[in-house]
Amino acid sequence: MSVLSGKNILLGVTAGIAAYKTAYLVRHFIKKGANVQVVMTPASKDFITPLTLSTLSKNPVFSTFFDKEDESGLWHSHVDMGLWADLMVIAPATANTMSKMVKGNADNLLMATYLSAKCPVFFAPAMDLDMFKHPSTQLNIDELKSYGNIFIPPASGELASGLYGEGRMAEPEDIVAFIEDYLIKNAPLYGKKVMITAGPTYEAIDPVRFIGNHSSGKMGFALANEAAKLGAEVILITGPTALVTVNPSIKRTDVTSADDMYQAVHQNFNDSDIAIFAAAVADYKPKTVAGQKIKKKDTVLNIDLEPTQDILASAGAIKKQQFLVGFALETNDELKNAQGKLKRKNLDLIVLNSLRDKGAGFKSDTNKITLIDRGGEVREFSLKSKDEVATDIFNVILEKTDA
Ligand code: CTP
Repeated sequence: MSVLSGKNILLGVTAGIAAYKTAYLVRHFIKKGANVQVVMTPASKDFITPLTLSTLSKNPVFSTFFDKEDESGLWHSHVDMGLWADLMVIAPATANTMSKMVKGNADNLLMATYLSAKCPVFFAPAMDLDMFKHPSTQLNIDELKSYGNIFIPPASGELASGLYGEGRMAEPEDIVAFIEDYLIKNAPLYGKKVMITAGPTYEAIDPVRFIGNHSSGKMGFALANEAAKLGAEVILITGPTALVTVNPSIKRTDVTSADDMYQAVHQNFNDSDIAIFAAAVADYKPKTVAGQKIKKKDTVLNIDLEPTQDILASAGAIKKQQFLVGFALETNDELKNAQGKLKRKNLDLIVLNSLRDKGAGFKSDTNKITLIDRGGEVREFSLKSKDEVATDIFNVILEKTDA
């Protein structure tokens, strides 16, 4: 999954011949799972039609503050678009538009939107060789960079004028790769290793039977996706589940029993920066595993169980730099029990689920959590999707770790 997936991208198109390439750029953004809103300067419509870009972006394209033909009086709000955007890309950026960006002219909808945008703004210049080399252009580029805008350098090659040199807009695939790379490297957890346990464990009774539980793994997988989105290298250690992982930043290890999970955790814990234990590990396992399938008899069958190792507590006992997060599923005296677990297992944060809350816990797509930190601070959250819960948990982790 791309970092661009689900991102709101505002694409500003200005009047250069490279505008024809924005059709491909929009296609690439859409294929990456982004939402695209195109804003054009009026003159850019001579190079590519709004119809092409609205069809490809699946959104109406705007180039004026309001539609004169439209009697509703509705206007195209640059303020709303600026707030909506997670990132803005101005491609191609002509010498004229860059000059206006430096001065802050708001003489068209694109410029007003640029001035309203609070998100990162990328600009990909496109112009002829001598225009690009001109000190005015170079000075404008430096100035725009100093405002925090991100420069996507033009490529060298044959220009529309027939001249050969620097000034050609970066190719659409290269623009997309540049933005993805930038977003990953500037993500809050870039360079950090996050280990997450998920799902149930199965404790074998004989070759065909086991003791397990109903954990789906959904919460742990949502946390893994969120960590990957935030730029981390993710180690996901999961018990048996039908869930799939697609993000290449998530390295997945499949395990079956609590003992397997213990081994996998301790192979990865030492150099982890954040470790989250969302797995529903069996507390007991059969003392011996029958070598053959146990035959049915008419008498009572007793299976001796012994405790599994508490993986989280074993991590808490050796913890150094790691920010350690555990889960607690409680039915009564929830806060007290969770606080007790946090202390006993030497955690930095505990995620409390109460079985008394509807829509929380195993199998469901939603969860209702309370977060309790080492210092005793308690934060309650409303019932949300597990993806949103994962975001809430990481927001608190980022705050507590200053990441
Ligand atoms: N956990 C673990 N290894 C175990 C048991 C639990 O890593 N063998 C982790 C879980 O992933 C979870 C946390 O410990 O993050 C809490 O587990 P829980 O079963 O609720 O706590 P227990 O200490 O087992 O207490 P109890 O069952 O009495 O509530």
